[in-house]
Amino acid sequence: MSNIQALRGMKDIMDNDSKLFTYFVDNCSAIAKRYGFNYLETPILEETALFKRSVGESSDIVSKEMYQFIDKGENDVCLRPEGTAGVVRMFVQNKLDRAGGTHRYFYHGPMFRYERPQKGRLREFHQFGCESFGEDSVYEDANIILMIADILKFFGISYKLQLNSLGCNECMPSYKDGLVKHLDDLELCEDCDRRIITNPIRVLDCKNGKCQEQLINAPKITSSLCACCDIDFVKLKSILDKNGIEYEVDSSLVRGLDYYTKSAFEFVSDEIGAQSAIAGGGRYDRLVEFLGGRPTSAVGFAIGIERLLELIKPKETKEELIYIGAMCEDALDVVFSKVAQKRGASKVITDYKVRGFGKHFNNAQKKGATIVALVGDNELKDNTIWVKDLDKKEEQIIKMDEF
Ligand code: HAM
Repeated sequence: MSNIQALRGMKDIMDNDSKLFTYFVDNCSAIAKRYGFNYLETPILEETALFKRSVGESSDIVSKEMYQFIDKGENDVCLRPEGTAGVVRMFVQNKLDRAGGTHRYFYHGPMFRYERPQKGRLREFHQFGCESFGEDSVYEDANIILMIADILKFFGISYKLQLNSLGCNECMPSYKDGLVKHLDDLELCEDCDRRIITNPIRVLDCKNGKCQEQLINAPKITSSLCACCDIDFVKLKSILDKNGIEYEVDSSLVRGLDYYTKSAFEFVSDEIGAQSAIAGGGRYDRLVEFLGGRPTSAVGFAIGIERLLELIKPKETKEELIYIGAMCEDALDVVFSKVAQKRGASKVITDYKVRGFGKHFNNAQKKGATIVALVGDNELKDNTIWVKDLDKKEEQIIKMDEF
């Protein structure tokens, strides 16, 4: 019988990757807090209906990629394919839509999509996301974009920002009618034929080369925006210009989820291969109402952590690591207590075995210690400890209490 392996498209995050992972999440969280976002956890498992209603039945995520099953209580549930829907469910369930004011949340955790795994595309992946409720000002869209730019700058990642406006209830329906008329005359792939019926704007995003060739003259949503959406889009671009954020308007950027209105954006990198989107988001002013709440403006984004980690060069900070070892049986207790005491303020490692000087020294070096401290018969007798600072190459014997 063969050994059990992790499922295809799912992986263990360990060793250096896990260090990088926590380094990323800790620093992103710190930046999100500076922008006024509070930490939130929502369940990984939710009712399937939540994603059907929000992400949309026409999206690939819902129609093809959900980890969906019936649980022991006959409930139709699925592993969350993204974070926004759960946050909106939490917002409505806790009646925050009635509280007024602005509510900002950040979260991170695993998401599940049954996609064909390839480089940068997993079936279990992790997102760091932010959602802001109650702000209809386009300054909030800009604030969110600036925050992502800050995060990417912190980690030294270069990117391109693609920007679009997907209009609103006023302008989107007539744009879709015009688009369908245009698409009727084209020879598109089977998927696109289906998209024309379920959500025609999704055709603009088709990856099929033949479809893309024919779409060059398709009407552009940015030319059909109503006055309100147009003013907001112009204002957003001007705020970004004034704050030194470069972008390109991409009128075929429709995003893979149905809930967007007005601004939609993607941050892409040309250093990680075909799956180049490292973060995506936008405004979704209708979703709270769609999920049973009072109409509430909302805007947010999510970063794909695994894709980001491919690009991070961690800042070189050498952390102090103390290694304390016993060179005689009687020193084991003293060492154990000293390790426990030092851990109040420092990172300390030890070895529960009695070893000679050379063995301890090698051990400490292998584990990356910056300070080695050893206790043998002589030190025990004098109540001292032998200490060497490996960086400064200085050694001394000091009183145990002073160490
Ligand atoms: P999304 O564009 O579907 O948006 O996902 C956000 C990011 O998650 C992507 O840019 C990508 O980096 C990463 N990602 C997506 N699928 C995979 C995968 N199969 N493997 C690895 N990484 C992946 C959302 O999920 C929205 N909820 C974002 C949002 C928040 N919009 C408003 N608020």
